[in-house]
Amino acid sequence: MTEPFDLKAHIRGIPDFPKPGILFYDISTLLRHGPAWRAAVAQLADAIRPYKPDILAGIESRGFLVAAPLALELGLGFVMIRKPGKLPGLTIGLNYALEYGTDRVEMQADAVPKGARVVVLDDLLATGGTMAASINLLRQAGAVVPCAAALIELSFLEGRKRLDVPVETLVRYES
Ligand code: PRP
Ligand code: MG
Repeated sequence: MTEPFDLKAHIRGIPDFPKPGILFYDISTLLRHGPAWRAAVAQLADAIRPYKPDILAGIESRGFLVAAPLALELGLGFVMIRKPGKLPGLTIGLNYALEYGTDRVEMQADAVPKGARVVVLDDLLATGGTMAASINLLRQAGAVVPCAAALIELSFLEGRKRLDVPVETLVRYES
């Protein structure tokens, strides 16, 4: 097991970004601190290893920052879940509702082998809308999703209640 490391000390809250009243949890300070970032990746690797993934999926864009080093750490490949219109070839997609409007996630139709165990990663779990859509998209592609994981969880938004898989997160905020 990896030694505990105070990751919260390396994440800063920036008030009123991107809108007044929103407290934005900024991982830039974690990413630029070598030992802290290494510890974050190692802790997340420890958390998802028991789910025995065959491959990882990262959600554009900040989820890529998490999925890519984790894939290396675990000796796995990773696939991209992207915003609309970014991927070449045959793609599948899923629209999901936001507070105002809709958003969409896409992936390449042949990205994962049928029945592959795919752990899906993002930097942050907020309302859970992005993660829920990504899980459903992976299932459409034929994957089994044993777990969803993120560095940060905004617990007060109760995003994990929208997910029908175990959720692993390293840092939680209650407000
Ligand atoms: C943020 C964050 C998660 C998502 C979480 O991404 O990185 O992907 O929102 O929100 P939810 O749980 O309410 O769906 P954002 O769309 O800001 O884009 P980025 O990753 O490209 O910065
Ligand atoms: Mg994101």
